[in-house]
Amino acid sequence: MQPASTDHLSRITIELGDRGYDILIGKGLLGDARTWAGLPRSARALVVTNDTVGPLHARALMDQLAGLHGRVDCLELPDGEAHKDWQTLNLIFDRLLATVSDRKTVLYALGGGVVGDMTGFAAACYMRGIPFVQVPTTLLAQVDSSVGGKTAINHPLGKNMIGAFYQPIRVICDLDLLRTLPARELSAGLAEVIKYGPIADLDFMDWLEPRIARLRSLDMDALGYAVRRSCEIKAAVVAADEREGGLRAILNFGHTFGHAIEAGMGYGTWLHGEAVGCGMVMATELSRRLDLVNAAFVGRVRAMVSAAGLPTVAPHMPASQWMELMQHDKKAEAGSIRFVLVDDRGHADVRPVADDVVLDVISRCTEPAGDAAPAATR
Ligand code: NAD
Ligand code: GLY
Repeated sequence: MQPASTDHLSRITIELGDRGYDILIGKGLLGDARTWAGLPRSARALVVTNDTVGPLHARALMDQLAGLHGRVDCLELPDGEAHKDWQTLNLIFDRLLATVSDRKTVLYALGGGVVGDMTGFAAACYMRGIPFVQVPTTLLAQVDSSVGGKTAINHPLGKNMIGAFYQPIRVICDLDLLRTLPARELSAGLAEVIKYGPIADLDFMDWLEPRIARLRSLDMDALGYAVRRSCEIKAAVVAADEREGGLRAILNFGHTFGHAIEAGMGYGTWLHGEAVGCGMVMATELSRRLDLVNAAFVGRVRAMVSAAGLPTVAPHMPASQWMELMQHDKKAEAGSIRFVLVDDRGHADVRPVADDVVLDVISRCTEPAGDAAPAATR
């Protein structure tokens, strides 16, 4: 399998009828006229970003939007998962109302998954729905969060618990935006790239295994192919099951263990991608315990996660805390925890697993008590 050159723009259409849209992937997309063709013209547009990404990239985006909109404003939210809340969301509504924005106003989400999820939710709510465009600036957002229309804010009692399914009208993955991304964030995004192999495409896993170092060094051809293949897989899953009636849950491979790590350590201690990477190792080990994959397959997943610079050993938490945290997972049904399990044919399935098997996997995959910081931060 040969990666496509990223000199040219790749276009993936997400087939959702009148809610369908294009995902554009390539280098230099902000400055490419094709990126903006067909987007609605309107009197007003608002770029929503944060106080880290805004100073780096907002000017370049706003310069391009001047040709589409009469007035383009920019709102910089405070950076961080801790601000993915009602107060910060309200800043978007404050600005939209203060600038007398109407139903034709277009929102542009310029940032990682936090900005994208909040801007999408604001777009879903303002005047009962206005158009929005995703301009993802992290690898995680380019391969996962900007695609598929999940939007949300956090509640003190649960992550992403308040939100809506609301699709963007375009996703613009400009690979050049990744050049300023910190290495730790790039590694975290690689977890979501790695997940697509075991759940859907073993050829992609074969391609990825020897190329992780190239991706970490921002090889643009490798990145272009990794983003494109990830988006193709996600687009197909979302088109088949937009509102997660069943199949879409496979995209949560590693997330049941991962969310428990994120919450148990305190949000922000482990990045989402770090927790998901470790969670994928645990979910693959769980699949081995159920005879779905062999030990060599677990070793391959562990080696990829490690090569991405992500921890492969979970922090110590009491067994009761693991189980309680995992019961809050959105896949849980009537208090029964459900896991995404993989087999050696590149298929995934979601089902409950007996507690004793889960606890055995946790004990094999965790550090001894007293050593709880993610390996990546040591
Ligand atoms: P993030 O949005 O917090 O971004 C990570 C950090 O990188 C931030 O400090 C940000 O300011 C900085 N940053 C972003 N782009 C940069 C750039 N180009 N240069 C320099 N710094 C940059 O985190 P994330 O990993 O992108 O997203 C995580 C969020 O996404 C979580 O809230 C998670 O719940 C959500 N998510 C949503 C979906 C979905 O389907 N909607 C899927 C996965 C994750
Ligand atoms: N990131 C999981 C999903 O979009 O369903």
